Amino acid sequence: MKRAPFLFAGVLGVLLILGTACGGAAAPTPAKAPAAKATPAPAAKPAATPAPASQPAAAATHEIASVGEEFKFDQSKLSAKAGTGVVLVFKNTAKTPGLQHNWVLVKAGTKDQVATAGTAAGPTNNWVPQKDDKVIANTKLVDPGKTGEVQFTAPAAGTYQFVCTFPGHNITMFGEFTATP
Ligand code: CU
Repeated sequence: MKRAPFLFAGVLGVLLILGTACGGAAAPTPAKAPAAKATPAPAAKPAATPAPASQPAAAATHEIASVGEEFKFDQSKLSAKAGTGVVLVFKNTAKTPGLQHNWVLVKAGTKDQVATAGTAAGPTNNWVPQKDDKVIANTKLVDPGKTGEVQFTAPAAGTYQFVCTFPGHNITMFGEFTATP
């Protein structure tokens, strides 16, 4: 009978210790939260790395023009590294009203075929056949004194042609496009 209070006190003491231990264990949890916040910060640094890496992939600008009133480009050869971005800027230097041109990149040996199909496609399609797998890229029809632009990814390494598909111009107005490895 006399020992009971001591036992009771002993149980209370254990409960208090456990209670303190639990309270103490809960305390470190908020302390971990700031540590968790610190983790995303270093993660942001690797995320920034791809940005500079994408800069070299930025498109390179290539300029080409027609030669006055002739049905001719001022360059017979263009080249770009396969898979890189290309911005092709074409200037129509003609002054003759209605003397329009375009610049169309096509598969090797298909410039006349594409031009014929382009004539059928008509001026509303810029004299360019639609959904034709021989056509890789093209500007719109460009009026005299104006500039047209097209952006595309340089195709697989190899040789291609560029041509003006305005009816009749393809006979003299073309060149070779090389995609380098
Ligand atoms: Cu032309």
